[in-house]
Amino acid sequence: MLCSPSDYNWPNISSCQFLKSSSSLFDFPKLKLPEFAFLGRSNVGKSSLINFLCQDSSVAKVSSKPGSTNLINHYLINQSFYFIDFPGYGFAVRSKTSRSRWGETIEKFLLTSSNLRLVFLLLDISIPPQSVDLNFLHWLNVKQVPTAVVLTKLDKLKKTQQQKQIELFAQALSQVMEPGQKIFQVSVIYKLGRESLWQEIFRLLA
Ligand code: GTP
Ligand code: MG
Repeated sequence: MLCSPSDYNWPNISSCQFLKSSSSLFDFPKLKLPEFAFLGRSNVGKSSLINFLCQDSSVAKVSSKPGSTNLINHYLINQSFYFIDFPGYGFAVRSKTSRSRWGETIEKFLLTSSNLRLVFLLLDISIPPQSVDLNFLHWLNVKQVPTAVVLTKLDKLKKTQQQKQIELFAQALSQVMEPGQKIFQVSVIYKLGRESLWQEIFRLLA
């Protein structure tokens, strides 16, 4: 589906289109294009962030129930690169077999894709830093997978709590982050952080 053009001229997002859902790497689109992957625990806001970037709430399916994205969804942006929305990790209701299959698929993708420009690793700022996320970020960095952190749901904190929580995250993340690795902050409710994410995306595409 086509999104309406963004409300400002730079960067120019002319189209965001759902392309296909895949359950394995074999089903991925045959046309190879630069990829931006959205990863994080279930319910952290991956699909919402894609909608926010595209300025269309109907591009990706969002739900308050964890596990709403259970396939790997490709979105074709500007006819020239992909957003890839992954099912969240740590979704308790999913079976153990399905969780380990997810782990193998994502690991293979992250370690073998030559088109992957960046992983956006989403963390919910309204809950304390979780070891599962820190361990995953550590693994991504050890494997040299290009990754940026995105702190989501900033609106859930009172203004007075925001700075404190950002500092708490910065401190926890500093133990596993690489020098120069970026941390973005977003809120789809406050419509905050969209432009800096697009800037990063277009910088990596240039
Ligand atoms: P899975 O597909 O289960 O892995 O979840 P997801 O990471 O794709 O999360 P999704 O985008 O479906 O959002 C989960 C819930 O968080 C929904 O109820 C969203 O409306 C809510 N949400 C997402 N982003 C924000 C945000 O910035 N602020 C607030 N307050 N809620 C948000
Ligand atoms: Mg989702």
